[in-house]
Amino acid sequence: AMPIAVLVSGGGSNLQSIIDRIEAGMLDAEIKVVVSNRADAFGLTRARNHNIPTRVLLHTEFPSREAFDEEMVRAIRESGVNETGVVAMAGFMRIVTPVFLETFRGRVVNIHPALLPSFPGVHGQADAVNYGVKISGCTVHFVDEQMDHGPVIIQAAVPCLTGEDGDALGARILGLEHRIYPQALQWLAEGRLEMRGRFVHLKPASRNLALQP
Ligand code: GAR
Repeated sequence: AMPIAVLVSGGGSNLQSIIDRIEAGMLDAEIKVVVSNRADAFGLTRARNHNIPTRVLLHTEFPSREAFDEEMVRAIRESGVNETGVVAMAGFMRIVTPVFLETFRGRVVNIHPALLPSFPGVHGQADAVNYGVKISGCTVHFVDEQMDHGPVIIQAAVPCLTGEDGDALGARILGLEHRIYPQALQWLAEGRLEMRGRFVHLKPASRNLALQP
């Protein structure tokens, strides 16, 4: 199983979708630790309910982003997430620095509730409604130094309904998030994601070798 660290700041429904998919035997991964930068994040409770180790690291207690990230790196490594592992940001509302990205190079992923590169930031759903786009959705991507930015792995789209506010749209987007995030992680676990320049290529699933000539 692919070792994963999941980073949360809030409710953790994406974390729950990952837990559920693992427990259903449909995602070949093991969550080694859930890290939160908020002590009251419900995601921590979800982790504890499934006996997953948790760490709370309050960014307010660190002198710099780099110092905070160094401590996150330490906590994640200690949990047993190594070169074969992945760091999954799931509603983690912090920008990570090069300190962090260099340690887990090419193995940090994030989910965002908009069709990137449109509407990055903390209000992606409402920003889409207020702009008046007719389609929005969600994006799983590899993380780079910019917020909600980096090579796209998978996206799902939803129509924006007339009169709907950001919360209503967001609720429908969230349902899709819970489908595409575990899917992206399973592709990673299968080693099917390959970088070609800045593009992510999905390799075909391996076939039953016995059937090949
Ligand atoms: C999700 O909608 C996620 O896409 C979003 O925060 C929510 C967390 O929900 N992330 C961002 O906006 C990143 N900029 P959850 O805690 O229930 O998974």
